[in-house]
Amino acid sequence: MLTIKNPRELTSILNRDRDQGKRIGFVPTMGYLHEGHLSLIRSARKENGIVVVSIFVNPIQFGPYEDFKRYPRNLKMDQRLLKQARVDYLFAPSTNSIYPKGFRGFIDPGPLARYLCGPKRPGHFRGVATVVNRLFRIIQPDRAYFGAKDYQQAKIIEDMIRKFRLPIQMKICPIVREKNGLAISSRNQYLSKKERIRARSIYRSLTEARKQIRLGEQRAERIKKIIRQILLNYVDKVDYIEIVNPKTCAPIEQVKSSALLAVACYLGSTRLIDNLLVKR
Ligand code: PAJ
Repeated sequence: MLTIKNPRELTSILNRDRDQGKRIGFVPTMGYLHEGHLSLIRSARKENGIVVVSIFVNPIQFGPYEDFKRYPRNLKMDQRLLKQARVDYLFAPSTNSIYPKGFRGFIDPGPLARYLCGPKRPGHFRGVATVVNRLFRIIQPDRAYFGAKDYQQAKIIEDMIRKFRLPIQMKICPIVREKNGLAISSRNQYLSKKERIRARSIYRSLTEARKQIRLGEQRAERIKKIIRQILLNYVDKVDYIEIVNPKTCAPIEQVKSSALLAVACYLGSTRLIDNLLVKR
């Protein structure tokens, strides 16, 4: 596996691969890799001749009071995992090479950013859309792999691909969970042992809501209440509980054919998100 820091160097190496008829699969990450990331990488490995993974903790997607500085980083360990996963290129750019002085290519994340995490994390999705657009232009992948763990993010990128008519196939991969249901996340690292146990209630609240929907409950208010009642016993603060249209991320009042149940909450100062797509 080659680790490449320079965007131009990566672009020219990939141009050569492309000229040889190889398809390029791309998995953007912020590193501190875990099973969730690795599942995306395995899908990319199966479907492409070349696999590129980026590791870049993108400063502009963090708010001023968020965890950019303390976000976990371990490049050596990540490199070992990527080598084992038979990744061809790790792209690990510097902040300056992604955002040169005078950078102005900010991307509007569009209407999907109005809901869920959008209003809770002002500027976050603008930062995500901007960096992913920048990475797409450097790498020009045939396929890009995102996790349903960050469902709204994936839909925003899908929308950006459509809007700019980028020739990239979007792949949204299922959420990888611990056996007890907790969605795997780099931020789980912040949790104490006790918080980690309490965090299991997040998935449990979502599956309980799904059960009630399957039993016939359609009213979003009632479904949210089921989730809230479980969460309030275990988490320190609920940031939001929403039942939304999976296409637009806009809240719905009645669950008809399908719905996304989405939750954000705090354990101590750690903010966790999770979601469950429910079809009737
Ligand atoms: P990061 O949090 O490192 O996640 C990288 C990718 O892994 C995202 O597509 C995310 O949805 C996916 N992922 C994380 N945990 C997962 C899990 N438990 N199951 C399935 N997929 C999972 O998301 C980002 O980085 C950044 O915002 C990024 C897109 C790289 C832009 O900076």
